[in-house]
Amino acid sequence: MSAQDHEPMILSIEPPSPKRLSFDRVGAGRDGGPPEVSSLGDAVYKFDSYHMAHASQVEAIDNLTAFIAEVCGAKSAYPLVNGTTSGNLGMVLASLRPGQKLIVPRNAHKSVLSGIVLSGAAPVFVQPEISTDLNLVFTIKPDQIREAMDENPDASAVLLTNPTYQGFCLDLAAAEQIVHQRAKLLLIDEAHGPHFRYHPDLPLSAMKAGADMAVQSIHKILGALAQSSVLLVGTDRIDADMLRMAMGLIQPSAPSRLFTASLEAALRQVEADCPDMLTRIIDMVEEARGRINQIPGVRAIGKEITSQSQSVVDVDLTKLVIDVAGLNITGYKAARLLHDDYGVSAEMAGASTVTLVVTVGNTREDLDRCVAGTEQLARRLRGARGQPSPLLHMLGLATPPMGRQVLVPRDAFFAKKARVPVPESAGKISGESVVPYPPGIPVLVPGEEITPEIVEYLIGVRRTGIEIHGCEDRSIGTLKVVDEREFLHSVGSGWG
Ligand SMILES: Cc1ncc(COP(=O)(O)O)c(C=O)c1O
Repeated sequence: MSAQDHEPMILSIEPPSPKRLSFDRVGAGRDGGPPEVSSLGDAVYKFDSYHMAHASQVEAIDNLTAFIAEVCGAKSAYPLVNGTTSGNLGMVLASLRPGQKLIVPRNAHKSVLSGIVLSGAAPVFVQPEISTDLNLVFTIKPDQIREAMDENPDASAVLLTNPTYQGFCLDLAAAEQIVHQRAKLLLIDEAHGPHFRYHPDLPLSAMKAGADMAVQSIHKILGALAQSSVLLVGTDRIDADMLRMAMGLIQPSAPSRLFTASLEAALRQVEADCPDMLTRIIDMVEEARGRINQIPGVRAIGKEITSQSQSVVDVDLTKLVIDVAGLNITGYKAARLLHDDYGVSAEMAGASTVTLVVTVGNTREDLDRCVAGTEQLARRLRGARGQPSPLLHMLGLATPPMGRQVLVPRDAFFAKKARVPVPESAGKISGESVVPYPPGIPVLVPGEEITPEIVEYLIGVRRTGIEIHGCEDRSIGTLKVVDEREFLHSVGSGWG
């Protein structure tokens, strides 16, 4: 079967014409609509409507859904117009009831914690491996999954992030064995790996590995518009009715035609042009990696990293992760200089690295500019004495052990909160997440006890001026804690 064998989907819907008047909800792009539209060009707005009877619209989306499942190798699928965030919410909400345990890496994307809040699940966190060499987080080892499952035989599911933002992959085949031997659910946040399935030199994909569900950002690497993702169901272990109800709670009732059409277009391209399209990207990134590795002071990470890590067994060859520690600057500074002075914008920066995501839209000339920019930056900085980085120093501070989970995150979310100075917060229950970057692993999540070690660590973090995410006071002078007098009830382990 190919795209041609499917009944009309989204792209083939007829545009409006003088013969057919549109009385639908979309006001932009019509006479009397917002005037800025004309400066943007009105084609996009004209497209943003299905121009058809509701029943036909439902049919077109059903056809798209079947097409997604087929191309992505899933039993069934959901097109998503609110990003992988909505897929993670749906995946967790459909798999766990209040109080049920979910084994999850401590550095899972915040949408996974949001799903945990929505469902009332109790997270069991596994600490990922940290690379002190690259100053970033690798992933988790199968043994850690086994251990967490053996210690929590009542856990219902395991949710893993694979690959990481930088394209580092865990041993998914081993994880699948461990989880399914114990008859539990394996859920994968595959936001950064929508292309894995379509090339033999790329890491194992969630659907091929036998995962029960996975969510992919088709807008990362492949060609869909931002926010266009898919949720894939790989096995019959998933309660289809529960998933349908969960998705009904979090999906819009009228998904954007722009987003659904872009999903269709991107997956048609995959179907028509893979693996060649990916071979072209892998080849040009490999060549760029080789050239960057000739430049003194920088290093582009490739497959060799698997021998320097206990958790990474494969890497996504389409990613360009450049270690700039040898230039005595942070990855943040390097990314800013590359952007400001050499016209190269990276996807993200870390303490020591810059990550470039190379997509179907990039050309060899783009990579030439990136290599040239890196070369010029390195030449300019070589020999210069960099300032000692507070970020690198920060990793020297031993991360404190996690605090005891007193409340499940949902109960902490709904509890009344008070704000207290950090030094006075020991013994209280956190009402918010606190995530220092680096390493990007939460020190606190809502519902956890704030220990004296955590207080000491946060005071140290404040002194370094390190970036903090998740909490309201990002200077980390105060913390939001659960107001014990106002607390109503708990389905978790309760006050102890
Ligand atoms: C691992 C991971 N999961 C989920 C998301 C959320 O994706 P989206 O922006 O499509 O909602 C991200 C975003 O970057 C991510 O890195």
